[in-house]
Amino acid sequence: MTGIRQARQLEREARHLAPGASEETEHGRRVFAEGRGPVLTDLDGNQYLDFAAGTLTQSLGHGHPEVVEALTAQAHKLWNVHDSATPDRAELLELLARLLPGHLDTYAFFSTGAEVVEAALRVVQSTAALGRNRIGALRHGFHGKTMGARMLVHWDVGHQSFSGNSVLGYAPYCYRCPLELEYPSCGVRCAALVERHIARKPNVSALVFEPVLGAAGVVVPPPGYWERVGEACREGGVLLVADEVLTGGGRTGAFLASELLGLEPDLAMLAKGTANGFPFAVLAGRSELLRSPEAATPGAYASTYAGNPLGIAAAHATLEVIERDRLIERVGTLGARVGERLAALDERFDQLGQVRGLGLLWGLEFVSDPGSRTPAPDIARAVYTTALDLGLRVALGGHVLRLAPPFTIDEHLLDEGLTLLGEAIERVTGGPTAERVVA
Ligand SMILES: Cc1ncc(COP(=O)(O)O)c(C=O)c1O
Repeated sequence: MTGIRQARQLEREARHLAPGASEETEHGRRVFAEGRGPVLTDLDGNQYLDFAAGTLTQSLGHGHPEVVEALTAQAHKLWNVHDSATPDRAELLELLARLLPGHLDTYAFFSTGAEVVEAALRVVQSTAALGRNRIGALRHGFHGKTMGARMLVHWDVGHQSFSGNSVLGYAPYCYRCPLELEYPSCGVRCAALVERHIARKPNVSALVFEPVLGAAGVVVPPPGYWERVGEACREGGVLLVADEVLTGGGRTGAFLASELLGLEPDLAMLAKGTANGFPFAVLAGRSELLRSPEAATPGAYASTYAGNPLGIAAAHATLEVIERDRLIERVGTLGARVGERLAALDERFDQLGQVRGLGLLWGLEFVSDPGSRTPAPDIARAVYTTALDLGLRVALGGHVLRLAPPFTIDEHLLDEGLTLLGEAIERVTGGPTAERVVA
């Protein structure tokens, strides 16, 4: 329940704040006052385990002391000098070179996910061979809310529709297979169609994709999908542009999810986990692409906040801790634990249609019943608000809840959060399916 101080604060804001908040904010109705590690405190003093890590951003938890120290020290020194070099920039570049696959050795800095996606699109469009005037993307993909990012996935706003130049391919969404097939007897037909419509088309310059589709509900591709699409793109001369805004920085158990899936992207975009929640984004690419005279025209990678010294300080401190404390290995270990616990929940509740994930990124898809698989946003929303009341924050989007706890969380707090989640589902659905049948 929203406490009295929070309710007053929300009422006060509502007089001037434009509506259009995210679903979680709309339904959660909380005023968060402080964050420490995996714990958030609201204005009335209630505490929550934050399994959404901010906006799936705070990989090291809220207010990590080393990131706070780096930001504070930088705040006393220098905030913005356009894209001029500052003392920490070379170190961050070298750190990225250690963490990223060797072929991604050239970087440009930005401040948000959508901004870095737009920058990648500019690189693709400026380097594309004559006639390759189309870009491939996947259905259910999400790349941000700017015009280019929306046009990729044909996401219209209002009455106006802008004809984009993208070609949409099938995502590996087995639970809701658009071809009504079953894996593995399908032979990964969705990949064969992406190959035909995108990878081998002479007018397509690039495929922009999330290796694991995050906003769609953590859609993890089955074995064979990326192998086939990746190889076909390579053979067809179609660039692989991995949107790792959410997955980049270790969240799936490798620095890039592409590495886990055997993909060698030509460009990769990182943002959310890069600077522990401070606005910062990285475009990583093959040298020949990012340095090509067509892409690297004067000012091509510069903007007001791109590569600002505060972002560089936050990113440097965050990535240094991830490297030093071997946190990506820890993501793998904790992820296996989460996977086991969620699989047990999946068994218990019929309304839990499917649980999917990798490392510390998981999606729970709620349905009205397992037969029809009708999406049940009302159940997801009720589980979300019940979990908040119990002291657990997760991420809500339609009929899917996402979990992305910080890499630094203790095992017992991880277990506690998963127990709270189970309790929330039980309260909303009326108990495990088998028990209800017996009763
Ligand atoms: C995969 C992906 N790409 C791009 C974006 C857009 O990032 P931003 O909200 O920082 O513009 C998001 C945001 O959730 C994302 O998940």
